[in-house]
Amino acid sequence: MSSMRIALAQICPVVAPVALAIEGDDIFEVLERNLLETKRWVEKAAAEHADVVVFPEYFLQGLVDNGRQHLTEYLSHLAQGFNVSIVGTIVHCVCEDLPSTSPFTHLMLSSSSKPDMEQWRQYVKANPGQNHSPKLHNTAFYIEAGTGKVLDEFVKRNLWHPERTIDKHHANPPRYETEILSSLSYARAFETETVWIMCNAGGLAKDGYIGGSSVWMPLKGKVGGCQNENVELAIVDVDLDILKDARTLYKIRADRDSTT
Ligand SMILES: *[C@@H]1O[C@H](CO)[C@@H](O)[C@H](O)[C@H]1NC(C)=O
Repeated sequence: MSSMRIALAQICPVVAPVALAIEGDDIFEVLERNLLETKRWVEKAAAEHADVVVFPEYFLQGLVDNGRQHLTEYLSHLAQGFNVSIVGTIVHCVCEDLPSTSPFTHLMLSSSSKPDMEQWRQYVKANPGQNHSPKLHNTAFYIEAGTGKVLDEFVKRNLWHPERTIDKHHANPPRYETEILSSLSYARAFETETVWIMCNAGGLAKDGYIGGSSVWMPLKGKVGGCQNENVELAIVDVDLDILKDARTLYKIRADRDSTT
């Protein structure tokens, strides 16, 4: 049997304030909190012997949207240290003038003191939010356990979105969003003949969180995940051999490949 243990980290990252850096301010405070929180969940996933831990979209955001390279470096460090693969999405842009030193070295080496932030402070000051609008890429990546290598990455597109803007006119039923995401994920697993993982942020329903992070497979449906919107780590074991049966049975891939 070819199995995989997936950890869904339905976490609640701190939302970074959109504001100018104030003189003497710790400009990376929110990001640091989210990075330390991320470390805590990677550690939990490793303790559960997960092969891969999946984080929600936008789980790291803020000023260093522009410096995603340094965020990825930190995640690579976690993937190496805890020997677990990490999947997530970070918004980043192509900015050539970024400071080359990581603002997070002290988080990686516990003995190291905080890096000199002056360069970053100057950069943020020179590029304030309201007149710095680079093209942003919502980039998903897969970082390998042990080596910490970024094995793959792609700029993702949304599973669904347009309903958001018309929600208030249509007064959708309370579980509309959860149900549609769940059915679309199931359909995608089926039509792509894959194990399909969706990871959402967790939090209070009254604050708009829907949770519902889960894993779907053809021939199985939903194989596990979070029960509701609460913050939690859900462990889901999947048998990848089932995909071979699905591909033999439905031949969706075979059909698609034969027509291209
Ligand atoms: C990392 O995990 C893999 C897969 O479980 C295992 O084969 C390998 O020995 C582990 N490496 C270390 C350094 O623990």
